[in-house]
Amino acid sequence: MDSPASLKWKRDLLEMEQIKEGVKRVFLETFGCQMNDNDSERILGFLKNISYIRTSEPSDADLIILNTCSVRDKAEQKVYSALGRFRELKEERPGLIVGVAGCVAQQEGQKLLKRAPYLDLVFGPHNIHKLPDLIGEISEKRARLVAVEQSASINENEYGLVSASGEKAYVSIMRGCDNFCSYCIVPYTRGREVSRESADILDEVTRLVESGVQEVTLLGQNVNSYGAGADVSFPELLRLVAGVDGIKRVRFVTSHPKDISEELIYLFGEELKLARHMHLPVQSGSDRVLKEMGRGYTASEYATKVQLIKRLYPDMAITTDIIVGFPGETEAEFEETMALLMALRFENVFSFMYSPRPLTRAASFVGQLPLDVRSERLQRLQDAQREISLARNLELVGRRVEVLVEGTSKSDGSRFSGRTSCNRIVNFPYDGINGPGAFVEVVVTEAYPNSLRGEVPQQGK
Ligand code: 5AD
Ligand code: SF4
Repeated sequence: MDSPASLKWKRDLLEMEQIKEGVKRVFLETFGCQMNDNDSERILGFLKNISYIRTSEPSDADLIILNTCSVRDKAEQKVYSALGRFRELKEERPGLIVGVAGCVAQQEGQKLLKRAPYLDLVFGPHNIHKLPDLIGEISEKRARLVAVEQSASINENEYGLVSASGEKAYVSIMRGCDNFCSYCIVPYTRGREVSRESADILDEVTRLVESGVQEVTLLGQNVNSYGAGADVSFPELLRLVAGVDGIKRVRFVTSHPKDISEELIYLFGEELKLARHMHLPVQSGSDRVLKEMGRGYTASEYATKVQLIKRLYPDMAITTDIIVGFPGETEAEFEETMALLMALRFENVFSFMYSPRPLTRAASFVGQLPLDVRSERLQRLQDAQREISLARNLELVGRRVEVLVEGTSKSDGSRFSGRTSCNRIVNFPYDGINGPGAFVEVVVTEAYPNSLRGEVPQQGK
C-alpha cells in the first residue's frame, strides 16, 4: 500500500504532468434548482474539452464560475456576496477569469459588469455552448464579455456532453416555460418552452447508463407539456426512457397540476420503473390567490387530482411548493392554504415567502405584504408541515424499502445514505458488500421529519 508521503509524491507528479499538458483548473459553484445542476454539468463538459479540470479551491483556480439563481431575491443576494469573495483573488492574480452564469446573468447582463468591475464574463442559460470561444477571446484580448442572447430552438450541441460520475443523473428534456405565472421570473431568464427530440434524449440516457447510471431524473419547468413540437408525448417519452436497457428508476420534475394527464397518472400502474414520487407544486390553497398567480386550477381541482393519485397508488409520495404572503393574501386566504396542507398531508413541502421579482406582473400588484407578515406565515406553515412530514415518515417504520445507495451519510460517516423510490432519504449501517450504486433492501427503524434510519436485515429474516 502507498504511504501518505508516496501518495503525495504521486499527486505532485500527476499535477506537474497536467500543468505540462496545459491543464487548467475551474472552480464552479452552483445555486438554485436541478436545472442549474444540469447546466453546471454541461458547463464542465464543455470546459473538459478545452482541458479544464475541476477544483474545490477558488485559490487554485484559473477560472471561477458562479452558476446563479434569481427565482427569489434571497437567492440573488447570495450570488452577490459569493462574488465579493473573489475580488481579492482577482487583484492578486489578474490572469484569473471570473464569470457569472445562470439566471442572474441572464437577468442582469451588462449591468453585472458595471456592478463587479473584476468580472470578465456574463453568460446566460442559452449560451453555455459558446463557453470555449468566450474563454478563448477573454484570454487573448483580455476582453470583458456578455453573452445573453436567447434562441428559439434547441441546438443539440448544447447537450450530450454531460459525463455522469455517479449512480444517478439529470437529463434535460426541454427548456424554458410559457406559463408566465405572475410571480415567476423563469420565463424571462430561461426563455420560451422548447422540447428536445426523443431520439436525442434516448441517446443521452443510453450513454449515461453505459457509464454506470441507474436512475435518471427527466427535467423540465413543466414536463407535462413536453412534446409540443416534438415527436412523442410525455407519457410516451417516459415509456421509452424506462425501456432503455439497464435503467432501474425514472423520475421527473416538475409537473404542472393544470397539465397533468390521466394517461400519465395511469402509467404509474404499468411502468414499475417510474419512481413512486410526484412533485406537484400547488403554490396556494386559495382560489382567489391561485387566479391572481395565473395557475389555471382551483384548490379543489388540485385536491381531486392528488386524491385520485393517492387512491390508485397509496405508496406514492406527493411533494409540493407553496408561496406564502403573495400580494393581497389575507389571513383567511393563508388559512385556506393551511387547511389544504392539513387535508392533503404532503410527504414534504418546499415553502417560500413571496419575493417580488423584476419583470413579473405580481411585483406591481397592490397589497404587497410586509416582511414580518410573510415571515410569520412561513414559520406557521413550516411548523405545521414538520409535524406532517414526521407523521408520514413514521408510517414507514417497520416497512422494507429499496434504497439506491448514494454514498456515506452527511452527518455520520459510518452510515450509508440513499433514497427510496418514494424519494425518502434513508441512512443505515451498511454491510460493506456493495458500494454506491447498489440497490439494498432496508427495514426502516426510525423516522425524522426529513430522513429515515434503517437496518439491512440479516439473511433469511
Ligand atoms: N417568490 C417566492 N417563491 C417563488 N417561487 C417562484 N417564484 C417565486 C417568487 N417570486 C417558488 C415557487 C416555485 C419554486 C421553484 O419557487 O414555489 O414552484
Ligand atoms: Fe415559473 Fe409558473 Fe413556469 Fe413554474 S410554471 S417555471 S412557476 S412560470
